[in-house]
Amino acid sequence: MSDHPHSRDPHRRDIMMAALAATCFSFGTIARAAAEGELKPTPSCGDEPTIRQTEGPFFKPSSPERFDLREPGVKGQPIELAGFVLTRACRPLPGALVDLWHADHDGGYDNAGFRLRGHQFTDAEGRYRFLTVVPAAYVGRTRHYHVKVQPSGGRVLTTQLYFPGEEKNRSDGLFRRELLMKVAKAGGSLAGRFDFVLDMR
Ligand SMILES: [Fe+2]
Repeated sequence: MSDHPHSRDPHRRDIMMAALAATCFSFGTIARAAAEGELKPTPSCGDEPTIRQTEGPFFKPSSPERFDLREPGVKGQPIELAGFVLTRACRPLPGALVDLWHADHDGGYDNAGFRLRGHQFTDAEGRYRFLTVVPAAYVGRTRHYHVKVQPSGGRVLTTQLYFPGEEKNRSDGLFRRELLMKVAKAGGSLAGRFDFVLDMR
């Protein structure tokens, strides 16, 4: 047990978990879910940085800065995706760019406009938060989000996020369990949680 990365420094880790739990307390849907035990604000920092993945063929630069990526006519299960951008030392990164883009409920990308595309900057506590819908799987791919995360003046992390419990996770060669979000029901919506850990102290 002592060589498990989570137990290398249990005292420091407890302090970080308490600090992050306190920070999460005002975190709307996610906080309520966490308080109910559905989503625990366990930091994923202190381990390996979030792994990189291909951006795929559908990235478009200059997405709008916004919280709600849905536009009129967009269908699909609403989901609030939120989390922190952290360093490996569990330091929250304010002002980090988080750019999200994904397929719609039919598995298609909007390559003419910016439907289901948007970016924002983490707040003073390093938090980001998007309201969007659950994308459909498409040919050859399991359900996923695409994301780019960039600390102020730093290197871009391009990666993808996956949904737990998806049958196609097993057949998609790009799927990595390290990139699984935590997903819980939150009223009529879903709450997705993922903390990005950048390769910096
Ligand atoms: Fe994709």
